[in-house]
Amino acid sequence: MKTLTLKSFAKVNLYLKVLNLRKDGFHRLDTVFERISLHDTISLTARLHDQEIRVRTNSALLASEPTKNLVYKSALVLQKTFKVKQGVDIRLTKRIPLGAGLGGGSSNAATVLHGLATLWKLRLSQSRMQRFARSLGSDVAFFTYGTSFAQAGGRGDIIKPIELIENVKLWHLLVKPAFPVSTPRIYAAWDLKNNARKIEKAGLTRPASNVKLLSLALQHHDLGLLKRCLHNDLEQVTLKLYPEIIRIKHALLQIGLKAVLMSGSGPTVFGLVDSKKKALAAKAHLKKQHPQWQVFIACTV
Ligand code: C5P
Repeated sequence: MKTLTLKSFAKVNLYLKVLNLRKDGFHRLDTVFERISLHDTISLTARLHDQEIRVRTNSALLASEPTKNLVYKSALVLQKTFKVKQGVDIRLTKRIPLGAGLGGGSSNAATVLHGLATLWKLRLSQSRMQRFARSLGSDVAFFTYGTSFAQAGGRGDIIKPIELIENVKLWHLLVKPAFPVSTPRIYAAWDLKNNARKIEKAGLTRPASNVKLLSLALQHHDLGLLKRCLHNDLEQVTLKLYPEIIRIKHALLQIGLKAVLMSGSGPTVFGLVDSKKKALAAKAHLKKQHPQWQVFIACTV
C-alpha cells in the first residue's frame, strides 16, 4: 500500500505590521514569513475500500478532538470537492508546539493539501490550492508556496515570495514558555489598544513598508541592520498579557543574542545566531537555567 511521508515545516514572522481591522473581522497585515526547519511529520496512506478519514497523532490534545483538526478538515474539503471515493489514514507526529505563533496547524493543512493532491491524483491548480488554503486559515497560503521567504498582504494570505533572498540561511534559537496563546485573543487586545474603528479609516492609506530594508539586511547577512528591521506589532500586546515573554527576551539578550523577536501572536520568541554551534551552546545554557521552557534550534529551509 502506498504511503506518502512528508515534512510539515514551521514559520516565524521576521516582520509583522497590523494595518487595520477589516469588515470581515480579520486584520490587514504586512508581514514577512520565513520557513524554518522545525517540523512535524505527516504520513498519508490511501484507504481503498472506504471513505473514512482517520487521524492518529502523538498529540493528546489533538487526538481528543480529531475532526476539529486542520489536518482532518483539509482532507475532508478535498474529498468532498473532488468527490473522491477513497479515504485516508493520516499519521501526524507533532513536534511544533500548539498555540505557539509558529504556524504548525496551518503548515499541517498545507502539507495535507499537497500530499492528498498527489495521493488521490487530483488536478489542483495553484489558484485553486490558494482558495482551499484561505478557507482553512490565514497562514495556510504561505505554506502552500514552498518558498523560504515571502512577504504577505491581505490577512496574511496574499503571498509574494522574496526571490532575492531565497538562498539566505539563518540560524535561530526558539524559546516557548509552557503555556499556549490564543491568536483571536491577541488580535482582540490589539483592537482595544489601538481603537480599531479609527484605525480602519487610517488603514485605507498605503503604509510605507520596511520589507525592502529587511531583504537587504538578509541579503548581506547584516545582523546589525537586521536587528533594526525585525518588528512585530503584536509583541507589545502579547507581552502585556504574558509577562513571562519579557523574561524570555531578557534571557536571550543576556546570553548575547542581538536580534530577538516574538513570532506571530506568540508566545514563542526567536533569536538569530551566527552558527549552529553557537545555537547549541545557547540552548544548553538556557535549558539548564530555565527547564520549564521549550527550546529549539532551527534554520531557514
Ligand atoms: O485565519 P486563522 O484561523 O489563523 O485566524 C485565527 C483568528 O485570528 C481569526 O479568527 C481572527 O480572530 C484572528 N486573525 C485576524 N487577522 C488576521 C489573522 C488572524 O484577526 N490577519
